[in-house]
Amino acid sequence: LFYFLLVCIHWPFRLKKGTNASNPENFVRPDIPATWGVMEKLYDTGKARAIGVSNFSTKKLGDLLVVARVHPAVNQVECHPGWQQTKLHNFCQSTGIHLSAYSPLGSPGTPWMNSNILQQPVIISIANKLGRTAAQVALRWNIQMGHSVLPKILNVERIKQNLDVYDWSIPDDLLAIFYTLYLNGEKLQ
Ligand code: A2P
Repeated sequence: LFYFLLVCIHWPFRLKKGTNASNPENFVRPDIPATWGVMEKLYDTGKARAIGVSNFSTKKLGDLLVVARVHPAVNQVECHPGWQQTKLHNFCQSTGIHLSAYSPLGSPGTPWMNSNILQQPVIISIANKLGRTAAQVALRWNIQMGHSVLPKILNVERIKQNLDVYDWSIPDDLLAIFYTLYLNGEKLQ
């Protein structure tokens, strides 16, 4: 039997028929209850073992929980030490929705992201103290927050490095630094 472990709504986002995303005037309000109804049917068939969402705010998750018969298992959002998603983290924890982090390294090299996690002196200094790389520290921060991490990666050596984040931890005194982390001169949370 073929089935998906998890199927997620990609964005809470909808376009007028026959248009594309190049113009904001093409955007219309998504019908989340109807879309979730289709997701629930998929779940009922057993073809998706779990259903979830991506890029949902606490407001959108709250609205979804009011109409959902099947509880959303996951909310996948951008999350890293430069965008900690504190409010969403708390909401997901209290409602039993797993938070999964995409761009956990802040997408280095992507001009519009501009978080430069791996170049942040404070992250580099924590990494040096622990004998780890900045990328490992960034991934480990998310893991210690209870989130899963989805780094994009092609380089084999870095894949090994990124997998080596499960048998050590950032101690509490260093973890506390992340709560007061300032990036690019402002607190990004
Ligand atoms: P590459 O695939 O060439 O290794 P994100 O997941 O935050 O979007 O980041 C993806 C980017 O981070 C990719 O460009 C990837 O490059 C790079 N990357 C992944 N792992 C590491 C690592 N351990 N150290 C430095 N860069 C990394």
